Amino acid sequence: MGHDRFIPFCKPTIEDDEIAEVVESLKSGWITTGPKVAKFEEEFRQYHGGHQKAIAVNSATAGLHLCLATLDLEHGDEVITTSITWPSTVNNIVLCGARPVFADVDRNTLQIDPADIEKKINSRTKAIMPVHFAGAPVDLDKIWQLCKEHGLHLIEDAAHAVGTKYKDTLIGSKSEAAVFSFHPIKNMTTGEGGMILCNNPQMAERIKRLRFHGISRDAWKRYSKGGSPHYQVVEPGFKYNMLDIQAALGLHQLRKLERFNKARAELAYNYMKLLKDIDEILPLVPPSYPHNHAWHLFIVRLDTKRMKVDRDQFIAELQEEGVGIGLHFPAVHLQQFYKEKFGFKKGSLPNAEWNSDRLFSLPLYPLLTPKQQEQVVDTLKKLVKRHKR
Ligand SMILES: Cc1ncc(COP(=O)(O)O)c(C=O)c1O
Repeated sequence: MGHDRFIPFCKPTIEDDEIAEVVESLKSGWITTGPKVAKFEEEFRQYHGGHQKAIAVNSATAGLHLCLATLDLEHGDEVITTSITWPSTVNNIVLCGARPVFADVDRNTLQIDPADIEKKINSRTKAIMPVHFAGAPVDLDKIWQLCKEHGLHLIEDAAHAVGTKYKDTLIGSKSEAAVFSFHPIKNMTTGEGGMILCNNPQMAERIKRLRFHGISRDAWKRYSKGGSPHYQVVEPGFKYNMLDIQAALGLHQLRKLERFNKARAELAYNYMKLLKDIDEILPLVPPSYPHNHAWHLFIVRLDTKRMKVDRDQFIAELQEEGVGIGLHFPAVHLQQFYKEKFGFKKGSLPNAEWNSDRLFSLPLYPLLTPKQQEQVVDTLKKLVKRHKR
């Protein structure tokens, strides 16, 4: 099969107005954090109701690190999260000196299970860090209740959830802290980048300071007309600021978000229709509580008991046949470091592990054509037929 027919797993939609805005930034003489970042933060905040603080960063990984850094975690402290996530969710817990504790997921939605979170809470638990998975929300009412009862912080990994609603509420509008990602595969992109929405003013102030070396002023305020070149280090911080070049992209992508998410939803419904009769391919099930799904990812599981090959063999052949696929995500607790350092073992999280061995993600992005989508499904059908028991 020729390369021209390869369907990439992802492709960002970048249009002329974003490009013009980036060029404008490049020509303006100010390319790092400046007025465009401030404007992007303001528009992102307004999109989410306008009552919280918005802090732009150079990745969601950086954003999660900053939020956790404000909790002043100590050795022995625990943070409860999910194993079905990108490693950075969990790595940041370890980097901040705490111990990750995994709650299992629902087998069919892959959202963290609040009942299992409750079982894992003890006197050392300091925070819960759920992931709004694949663009659908976690069951926030139950998690809010647990945080209230036990006095815990809630840092929401909203990397997949820009535009997601839980009931009638956009993710991030009521959160203590929620962190979004603008990596190129996400629903909107700034190349790399992230945004923290925070409803706790003291925490937001500290995040802002830690974003840029822990000093009390942003560079562009120091260097611009009327600015003062002086600064104070209040506490040692990081170098996690977003560039104006990135914000130039983000400003336009945010205005297009609803169009992008609608296109993703239409493709997702079409996948569900096209996959309905393939018993060996099991799409995730959207949560039963009211929500608006941002359709960041379209994840399916291979029903291996009906097949003569495992998931890895199946996806290798899918790639050979010209379909780009992703893995979101192999369980983090079974990664080498986590097994060796914390002794996590197979058997501890049955739903996460069952999914970890079977899941893969299909191409889903606004530029995917219905014809390409049919090609994806036809290839799935062909391989299922080739390998079914
Ligand atoms: C669930 C989750 N959390 C965090 C991240 C980190 O995002 P970033 O690449 O912007 O650092 C990702 C990235 O894919 C993710 O999927």
